[in-house]
This record gives sequence, C-alpha cells and structure tokens, in this order.
Amino acid sequence: MCGIVGYIGEKQATTLLVDGLKRLEYRGYDSAGVSLMNGNGLETRKAKGKIAMLEQAIASDPIKGKIGIAHTRWATHGPPNECNAHPHHDCKGKISVVHNGIIENYGPLRAMLQKTGHVFVSETDTEVLAHLIEAAFDGNLEDAVVDALALVEGTYGIAVLSADDPDKIVAARKGSPLLIGIGEGENYVASDVAAILAHTREVVYLDDGEMAVLTRDGYSVCDLYQQTVKKGVSRIDWDLDQIEKGGFDHFMLKEIMEQPQTITNTMRGRLVTEEGFSKLGGLNLSMEELQNLDQIIITACGTSWHSALIGELMIEEHARIRCEVEYASEFRYRNPIVTDKTLCVVISQSGETADTLAAMREAKRRGARTLGLVNQVGSTIAREDDGGIYLHAGPEIGVASTKAFTSQVIALALLTLKLGRLRNMSVVQGRDIAQAMEALPAQIQSILDRASEVETIAEAFSDATNFLYLGRGYNFPVALEGALKLKEISYIHAEGYPAAEMKHGPIALIDADMPVVFIAPHDSVFEKVVSNVQEVKARGGRVIAITSREEPSLAGKIDYEFRIPETIDMLNPVLAAIPLQLLAYYIAAKRGLNVDQPRNLAKSVTVE
Ligand code: M6R
Repeated sequence: MCGIVGYIGEKQATTLLVDGLKRLEYRGYDSAGVSLMNGNGLETRKAKGKIAMLEQAIASDPIKGKIGIAHTRWATHGPPNECNAHPHHDCKGKISVVHNGIIENYGPLRAMLQKTGHVFVSETDTEVLAHLIEAAFDGNLEDAVVDALALVEGTYGIAVLSADDPDKIVAARKGSPLLIGIGEGENYVASDVAAILAHTREVVYLDDGEMAVLTRDGYSVCDLYQQTVKKGVSRIDWDLDQIEKGGFDHFMLKEIMEQPQTITNTMRGRLVTEEGFSKLGGLNLSMEELQNLDQIIITACGTSWHSALIGELMIEEHARIRCEVEYASEFRYRNPIVTDKTLCVVISQSGETADTLAAMREAKRRGARTLGLVNQVGSTIAREDDGGIYLHAGPEIGVASTKAFTSQVIALALLTLKLGRLRNMSVVQGRDIAQAMEALPAQIQSILDRASEVETIAEAFSDATNFLYLGRGYNFPVALEGALKLKEISYIHAEGYPAAEMKHGPIALIDADMPVVFIAPHDSVFEKVVSNVQEVKARGGRVIAITSREEPSLAGKIDYEFRIPETIDMLNPVLAAIPLQLLAYYIAAKRGLNVDQPRNLAKSVTVE
C-alpha cells in the first residue's frame, strides 16, 4: 500500500528518490517524505498530500545527499499529516526509518520505550521501530535492527539509515514486499520494481525473515539470526513505457485499451486450438494429481474475487469438478474443509494482497496444493505458491483493476480447458472453447473502437447518485464487477445483484432516478433477463442494456443500449466487462475525479 525507495551510490539522490516515489504513488498516497545523509547527518523533508507537495517542500528548503530513503504513506495509524508521514526518527534524529506494514504490538512497545525516556512525536506504529533501533544501537546498524525486530509483532518492509553508521542502508522484510536493485557502484531498495526500473533491471527479491545490508559497492542478505542467505538475481523484462501513460489521460483508460493485447499475452503459447487443449507449464501437478482432484477452492479479494466467481461457473460446467469461491479474508478465519486432493486457486493481480496471501498459506497448511493466478512476476504469492499461471498482462497502475480482470478470466478458461479435457470434455467441445477464446482480442478491439458510444451514455448519467447492475449466470459476477468499478472511482453508490433476486428487495429502490444496467447478451438465460428488464421498466426505472444482437423482446424497454459481439456463454464476461469499465471511467472523468488514484484506496492492499 505504502511505497518505499532507497538509494546508495555516487549520484545526488533527492530527485532520484522523488522520481521513484512518483512511480509508487499509485500504491498509497496521502503523504510522503524523504531522508538523506547530507555529510553531517540526517536531513528529512515531509509533506501531506501528493508527491508534488513534497517537491514543493524540498524546493523551498533543499536537501542533498548520496544516500537516502523515501516513502509514500497510506494512513493506518494516525491521520495523514506531515508529522505522521515517514521517515520517522529516534529521539536524537540519528536514525531514520521508512516502513510498510503494521506493527501490531506497537502500543506496549511504545509504553515500554516511553518509560525509559523515549519521546514520541507521531501517532504511528512505525515510530516505535526508530526508538527500538535507537535503544539497541551500539555502533552497528544491522545488529540494532535485528535486536529491534526481535521485539516486534506484525508485518514490515523497512529501510533504515543511521547517522552513526552512515555508509549503508539496512532493509528487512516480513509480510511486506521489498527488493534490492543492483547497479554499478550503487544499489537500491524498493517495495516495487516500478520505483527503480529507470535505473536497473537486476533485482533480488527479499523473502520474509530476511535482512539486507546495502553499500555503494555491494549488498548482503541474511536471516534475522544474521546467517548469510544466498539469493538469486532476477531480471525484469518490463519496459519503462509500460508504466507510463503513453498519451492517455489516465492509466485506467490506457489499461482498458490494452486489453486486446493483454489477453493475447495471457493466451500466448498456451492455447492449442486444434486439439481443444491448453498447455500450462507452471502447474507443477502431475496428470494423475490433476485427475484425482476432489474439489477446487478459489480465493481472492475485490475484482479478483469476481473473476473467481466466473471461474467457479466455468470449472463446474465444463470440467465437472466441485468448486467453491471464498473471500480470502473470510477463508482464513473459518474452518474450511480442505483435503490433500483440494486445489486452492489463488487469484491476485499484485500477488501481494495480505488477505489472499494469508488464505493461501492457510490452505497450504491444511494440505491443499496451491496454484497462483498472479500478474506481478516475482511477487510473494507467485513465489510461495506450489504452481502458477502468470497473467502476463503487464504492469497495472490504475487502482481500478481492468486488464488484470480480463486476463484472470482467460487464465481460468485455460485452466478449465486443461481440467475439462482430462475428464469429460470432448475435443470438439474443447476446440469450440479455444476458437471462441482466439476470437476475443478482435472482438474486444471492436468494442473499444466504439468507446465514444459508452461516453455518450456516461454523459447522461454522470449526475446519478445510485446505480444497480443486474445479470444472471456468467453475467452476475460481471454485474458485481461493473458496480465495483463505478463505486471505487466515481464514488457513486452502486450495487450488483443477480437479476432475478432484485424482486426480493432492491426492486423497492427502482424509480426514475435509479439507472439499472442490465448485462444481457444473447445467452442461455437471456429470456429470463428480459422479464427482469420488464419489471424495472414497469416501475419507471431507466435501463441501460449491454446486449449482443437486435432483440425484439426488448423493443421499447431499454433507454440506452450498447452491443457487444457474440461469444460462448463462459466468455461473455470478457466482452461485457469492457463497456462497464468504460462507463465507470467516463463517468468518473466527467465528474472531474482522480480516476487512477481514488480516495481512500490503494493498488495493493498489504494490510489485513
Ligand atoms: O492485487 P489483487 O488482485 O489481490 O487485489 C485485490 C483487490 O484489492 C483489487 O481487485 C481491488 O478490488 C481493485 N481496486 C478493484 O478494482
């Protein structure tokens, strides 16, 4: 959620660190700060608000240095203000700490430190780390960090500087992502590769319980008993332009428009159309294990949870394996039935969502095999799962997930093909699915080419205060996703419902001020949806319908229509989601909102 970047080398670090923060702004963004070693000691600047405010603070009171750490904050303990912004310091201002995560026992630690004379200035949990390190410091920073972390319960990704042990950055991780960027005569630490991609592509991912010491000329990694850990170096193959807007007003619009390509990337080399089959090299499950599965549990949060619901329908219909979908945040706190024949599919764009990660660990602990459907290469879920299907959708920067959603549905379709063809699915059925998948990129493009039609609809509804999204079968999760997209970026209240459930309560809300979006392509439940449209129309509701052909039964019953191409039922969500993404985008943009960084939200939710 928050972002960390640190640098040690021969360059002036201020601009480099601030630029790194800008690339992390999408993760969390209510305040920011930077600390530098200026040759005499530590100097810090902080500001509430966007990175631009921090830049102003630095411009009016410049700082210089070649070693530094910086942070963007998403408030957990204490409101967003300059004082609570990171970095945090010890009493003497000789230690500087940036931290992602939550120190759960910060209350008792703070009380203990206060009793021994430590003076706190912020309301944050993080500040206890600076004071703990101060209390343990005896000339060597890494020793003090190890001693301090031994007292800490909770999660952390930290980077620490000390004016009394000045030529190093110490970083440590438990539960919050952190990586080292390797340069020549310089090194970096960051919570996200985007922060340092302009400078290096060689990275080392830290694992939980590891600490790194960075100097100009090298780095070392050890565990928290200071035993050396040998780490592999990974190479990042993204390009910088993938994390830039490329001429679009917002990342969200760019990412919506990329979908013909991103789903192609998800399918590339995996779809064997002629044989109606999929090749998934990373499953790490034998043919026999796949055939013997007795159930699949899919767990995820938010948009990824919506794609999980679509996966459940696909897998049960076409692969005939019992499948349950669980909110990751609920799964870990109940007593689910998991056997050694359970496959737990874990879906996460970021691969860092705390609840999803914890659910995966719980499923593993109970004996399930885990399979990660993850976009972010090298993320924690991707490294801890037993097998995986990378989405290959490229970096998703907009907080509202768009291209990751369609790639998740494609990855689930590939998995369905694989599992189905090992069971009852005939080659003909498999080929039909594969051919329909192959047609999707061009079909999505044909929708995107008509984006202005959605913009016109958005114009008519940008002042609405409530929305209802209704769909049935495969399109019920699409209704949920459409409503989530709208509410998170436009702040308009929106609900998704199974269309037929409407008459059990929400129908009371229908009047001329309630736009109702029906996801009604011509599928096996279309006629049923028509009855629901009639029920809304009879009560004066305004209907926006996503259809796939001219429907005489809808004549006179819909106010606005957007046509999508026809496909097989299980793939309708991929096409139907696109106009809903555009609708949310255009409404939010017309309301003048910060589409890519909606209030209160962060791209990657790394706290429970
Ligand atoms: O990175 P993940 O897929 O695990 O993230 C899960 C949710 O936090 C995420 O999908 C969230 O709901 C998005 N903001 C939705 O657009």
